[in-house]
Amino acid sequence: DTAAGALMTSPSPSPVSLSQDELKKIAGFKAVEFVESGMVVGLGTGSTAKHAVDRIGELLRQGILTGIVGIPTSKKTHEQALSLNIPLSDLETHPVIDLAIDGADEVDPDMNLVKGRGGSLLREKMIECVSKKFVVIVDESKLVDYIGGSGLAMPVEIVPFCWKFTAQMLQSLFKDADCVAKLRTLPESKDPYVTDNNNYIIDLYFKKSIGDLKAAGDAILRIPGVVEHGMFLDMATTLIVAGEHGVTVKKN
Ligand code: 5RP
Repeated sequence: DTAAGALMTSPSPSPVSLSQDELKKIAGFKAVEFVESGMVVGLGTGSTAKHAVDRIGELLRQGILTGIVGIPTSKKTHEQALSLNIPLSDLETHPVIDLAIDGADEVDPDMNLVKGRGGSLLREKMIECVSKKFVVIVDESKLVDYIGGSGLAMPVEIVPFCWKFTAQMLQSLFKDADCVAKLRTLPESKDPYVTDNNNYIIDLYFKKSIGDLKAAGDAILRIPGVVEHGMFLDMATTLIVAGEHGVTVKKN
């Protein structure tokens, strides 16, 4: 099997430093152990989920998995799954999903997540909230003491109409957390980043804790112009963390 797979099952006596991508691959492959033939599977987005999707494609090709139906969480994952000949469907045809596998940007001790730095939070949330099991795959750098604790952004998908107004409303909502709201732009052109749903993303940076996450999420959704936020609260059923010292699997 792969180097990453071999290291997972036969650890070296001397510490081997694995790259972040190797850790992501270990987590992704481990998650696919939860996939059974005949399942409807939510296919996540990002560099970690990509490994899981590759693995599902490989096991289908080998005939080890059969009868899988994939529901992709982004156009990018849709393309990847098509290239691997994974049979695909959508939420309208399959409104209940057996198991979804996806990465995350932050995971707190209660398995609450921040997602969407890859820009796919809306489709991810739509699919993962109807999944009977939601397996989150991360390398250990994603673990935080509290949501917002990485100092990186919490993304919010908004409609483009009067986006500055919506950004201002979001920033004001979190003034006690010294929030800064920034429109996500493309690095080259500085044009707005446009999601698969033709929306924009506002990245929220907090200097302090935002407190009650559920209340914060509800307040965000009440702002006109907001489509969805990147906090995935109480959704993950299984967390797989790959680190230098092995893989841990935690269930909610
Ligand atoms: C995309 C996401 C990704 O799952 C998240 O950004 C993690 O990405 P990666 O596995 O590349 O670190 O939420 O919208």
